[in-house]
Amino acid sequence: MLPSLVHSAIFPSLHTRKRLQDVVRPKNRNMDKFLREVRRNFESPLQSGKLLAMSAALQEQFAVKLQASNISMLPTFTHTLPAGDERGTFLALDVGGSTFRVAVVVLKGISPGEKPMQITKMRSFKIDESIRVLEGTQFFDWMAGRIEETLADAELKSHAMSTLSMGLSWSFPINQLSGRNGLLLEMGKGFCATVGCQERDISELIMDACHKRNLNVRVGAIINDGVASLLSCAYENSATRMAVILGTGTNAAIHLPVSTLAHSKFGRREQSWYDNATHVVVNTEYSMFGKNILHTTRWDEYLNLTHRQPDFQPFEHLLGGRYLGEIVRLVMLEAINDAGLFGGEMPEKFSEPYSLDTGILAIFQADDTPLLSKSSAAFYSQHPLSTPPSYADLLFIRQVAQVVSRRAAAYLAVGIHSLWQLRLVAEGLTAASNGHMTIGCNGSVIEKYPGFRQQCQAYLDDLTALSGADPHSVVLEIADEAAIFGAAVAASVPDA
Ligand code: GLC
Repeated sequence: MLPSLVHSAIFPSLHTRKRLQDVVRPKNRNMDKFLREVRRNFESPLQSGKLLAMSAALQEQFAVKLQASNISMLPTFTHTLPAGDERGTFLALDVGGSTFRVAVVVLKGISPGEKPMQITKMRSFKIDESIRVLEGTQFFDWMAGRIEETLADAELKSHAMSTLSMGLSWSFPINQLSGRNGLLLEMGKGFCATVGCQERDISELIMDACHKRNLNVRVGAIINDGVASLLSCAYENSATRMAVILGTGTNAAIHLPVSTLAHSKFGRREQSWYDNATHVVVNTEYSMFGKNILHTTRWDEYLNLTHRQPDFQPFEHLLGGRYLGEIVRLVMLEAINDAGLFGGEMPEKFSEPYSLDTGILAIFQADDTPLLSKSSAAFYSQHPLSTPPSYADLLFIRQVAQVVSRRAAAYLAVGIHSLWQLRLVAEGLTAASNGHMTIGCNGSVIEKYPGFRQQCQAYLDDLTALSGADPHSVVLEIADEAAIFGAAVAASVPDA
């Protein structure tokens, strides 16, 4: 059983402890043996046949929520993907899981030799725990303060100019009422802004806060960051039909025929919208799917049991940047206590939940020094020990990071494959007749985690080929600054 120190630090309630008894393992295994067990747990589900079966099961879960759900498979008001000729200057706001960015963006349209989208000014503000816990209007007041700072910094004296149109990319679910209005839904990622404001219009909340500061701005568009990524990528590449975000959290947006969703999913909208729309951009919120489909380990189960919102986003718990470090930390806690990692010594602050940053795992995986000295320094600076970690300890951590991130890359490929299949069926296409499709990718994990995108692409190639597609017909393409650009693109389309 896990020693009481670890036990009480990560598993607070009696109820949780009781359930833990079922999943703990015998003590005193050595590190090699323990590592083999870790590998078996994380790698056994990753055979092609099993991954394809998970994809098929996910498609069944999607089908249910395409008929009824007010929190996933959410249709936006955007029916046409951008043509690349939208123009203008916009203020793009990007509320991510750990950063709020405010940028002045100029859209120039596609023309040879010129960047079609440019950021002329950008400020980035960290969203730490003190901001995440701001409740209701306090959070929007904080946002307005940062908008004011950026405008002053960009010397955009708002009163001297015409009203600036803002596009907001929101990295949480939204119940869209129009292109520029949407109801605030449960946020996840540890945010508390919904307290007292659930189901209020985000546009109104932001504008109330901006009015208090006399900012000469208006909301031109509100969109989810996955949707923003799709618009941004499609602006530059007309083969784009889908986008995936993998940063702190994960999500995908996809362009589907209107008939894929039940009529009741569209809420109240003008008949003219239906008259013009053959397709619709759907915010899938696929992070909420996958319960009892994607194979989990006992460490994933710990994570879920101790989470503030257990079972809210099962898929995200397996791949999100917020969780990769935590999964590795839970494996390491067991290794410290049962298999002699760090000679059994608990590093400082390591028993605190979420204290191992996914960025540190990325350093371990990229480390090309013979003795893993970069990794050692990065870990030791965050979690001091009485003596620096041994090479064997460092190698162990690196190998755990490798299996946890490889599983995440494989599961992301499963999620993408399932949506790709969903679209094929909805469009009446076959895998072979689908031709080339680009998937815009954005977010710190898919963009920056060493080898992640390549690994995911390899799994995706395998799965799509087994489903009958030509090799490399579904391509993951990084969409730089997609949330920011997509917010501006959305604001450029008047009644999207
Ligand atoms: C979370 C949110 C989703 C967002 C994604 C990526 O899962 O629920 O709305 O798009 O993270 O940021």
